[in-house]
Amino acid sequence: MQGSANLNIMIKAARKAGRSLVKDFGEVENLQVGTKGPGDFVSKADMAAEEILREELITARPNYGWLGEETGATPGTDPTRRWIVDPLDGTTNYLHGMPHWAVSIALEHKGEIVAGVVFDPAKDEMFYAEKGAGAWLNDKQRLRVSGRKRMIESVFATGLPFGGSKHLPACLQDMARLLPQCAGVRRWGAASLDLAYVAAGRYEGYWERGLNAWDIAAGVLIVREAGGLVAPIRDRRDILADGEILAANGAMFDSFAATIRNADPAA
Ligand code: IPD
Repeated sequence: MQGSANLNIMIKAARKAGRSLVKDFGEVENLQVGTKGPGDFVSKADMAAEEILREELITARPNYGWLGEETGATPGTDPTRRWIVDPLDGTTNYLHGMPHWAVSIALEHKGEIVAGVVFDPAKDEMFYAEKGAGAWLNDKQRLRVSGRKRMIESVFATGLPFGGSKHLPACLQDMARLLPQCAGVRRWGAASLDLAYVAAGRYEGYWERGLNAWDIAAGVLIVREAGGLVAPIRDRRDILADGEILAANGAMFDSFAATIRNADPAA
């Protein structure tokens, strides 16, 4: 796909941050056996990746605002546009030497995501989309959500709440309703990639609560541009502000949403 100048800037920035993270990931794998563990090292790798992204994106578009996981919010002189960035989504995987993590970059314009990039450097998979131009993987592969229509054949993904999260009871109830009806639930630990995988038709759907805008902003657009549906779990919530999300292929969305919302799909 021939992307816009902004998309090319995003892809270049994601690759550059990805190279830095891959280099540090080699060291993280070596640090696993030590008693101190790689915690401090990973925080520095994460910060360094955000610095690279800031440098690339803000240098290219100095007037845009910024929202990054590590450095927070900075308004731009153009109040209508901002970058929403997670330099390392899937930090726990990275910390434990598991090669499933991503760089996520979204561009918001007037409150709407208009471009999104999710880059998995360990697998060299670049997922990206622009509003109205479809969703893509690497150079030429057009992304489409899966065509499965039956819950019992479908695989879903979620994020399991950890560390005393208030979302644990709801998630356990979701599991009790969903597991008997489907072909499996995955918890791979990087929300941006969970959304990219829905867009690529690898899972039929994904849901999670307690997320941050930078985890999902890029992925939401990628799913929609691949023909999928994305909605908040509860009515009239704002996905990015409230951090709760349901995403699925069109055929499965109503049954899946009804199961998670504990509602009758026909009601
Ligand atoms: C986390 C991942 C994970 C999700 C957590 C997020 P981080 O993001 O996306 O899959 O379950 O809720 O916080 O902290 O690795 O950027």
